[in-house]
Amino acid sequence: MPSVNDFFNDPVFFLSLDRIDLELLLAHALKKTREFILTHPETRITKKQEIFLLKSIARRKKHESIAHIFAKKDFCDLTLKVNRHTLIPRPETELLVNESEKKINTQKLNMVIDIGTGSGNIIIAIAKHLKNKKINYFGIDISPKALSVARCNAKKYNLNKKIKFITGNLLTPLSKKNFSQKTKTFIVANLPYLSKEIYSACVPDVKNYEPKSALYSSQEGLYHYKKLFQQIFFFQTQLNIKNILIEFSPEQKKKLSLLIESFFPNAKKQFIKDLAGKWRICAIEL
Ligand SMILES: C[S@@+](CC[C@H](N)C(=O)[O-])C[C@H]1O[C@@H](n2cnc3c(N)ncnc32)[C@H](O)[C@@H]1O
Repeated sequence: MPSVNDFFNDPVFFLSLDRIDLELLLAHALKKTREFILTHPETRITKKQEIFLLKSIARRKKHESIAHIFAKKDFCDLTLKVNRHTLIPRPETELLVNESEKKINTQKLNMVIDIGTGSGNIIIAIAKHLKNKKINYFGIDISPKALSVARCNAKKYNLNKKIKFITGNLLTPLSKKNFSQKTKTFIVANLPYLSKEIYSACVPDVKNYEPKSALYSSQEGLYHYKKLFQQIFFFQTQLNIKNILIEFSPEQKKKLSLLIESFFPNAKKQFIKDLAGKWRICAIEL
């Protein structure tokens, strides 16, 4: 039986795989933590584990991401199911969650809508962290297959009754029965925002395995936000939207700012940088 160390020292693996990926794949195959693998390299690998490991290594070599191989991804304090129908939640999106929670906490809002919910990462994290607030939560996505993953994730955290997931195009699936005169709405959105150029330059891990419909947007990546602003403009009286928080690509800041001004000339805008020092979030107060 080979040991963990045999895999670490075999050039077939260490030359073709990132060391951290190899450690993670070994840990996954042995159902141990990465720390265990590092501190117990003498551990023997059974035939069944070896077959599983070799299959996972072959998938990684074909650029499938670790999150897809494990079918899960950590996000904020959650571990979420992901698959080929959902975007893999990115660390920078945790900032969108933190900033949303700050705004919701300081204002008396009673409806939170996450548009382009994907795996449900944003709305589940917010609903979990603000458990004691009386808020109606909605997650909307155009992909019914992504929504079945979101529902499964919400169930894991006992939030399936608290969050309503609806299929549809941006705000259009919401009907009058979803809001009353006292509704004060908060909108959070991480919609597709990659321009044609940026999408074409993405690594195969992204282009070959994540849905293009979750990443690419025409009109320099701003088509989806433009449509969303149009809908907000028309639905505003019924929805009483107080805040909109969106994630975008750093080079879009100027164009996005002009787009917001064209729809909401009196709104207050705040741009926020991510941990890498890049413009990433825009908070709009209507
Ligand atoms: C960038 S992903 C974000 C997924 C998830 N919220 C996250 O942060 O990881 C964009 C999501 O928007 C959805 N989407 C694309 N066009 C849409 C539309 N017109 N209406 C609603 N959702 C849409 C995609 O299916 C995808 O799940």
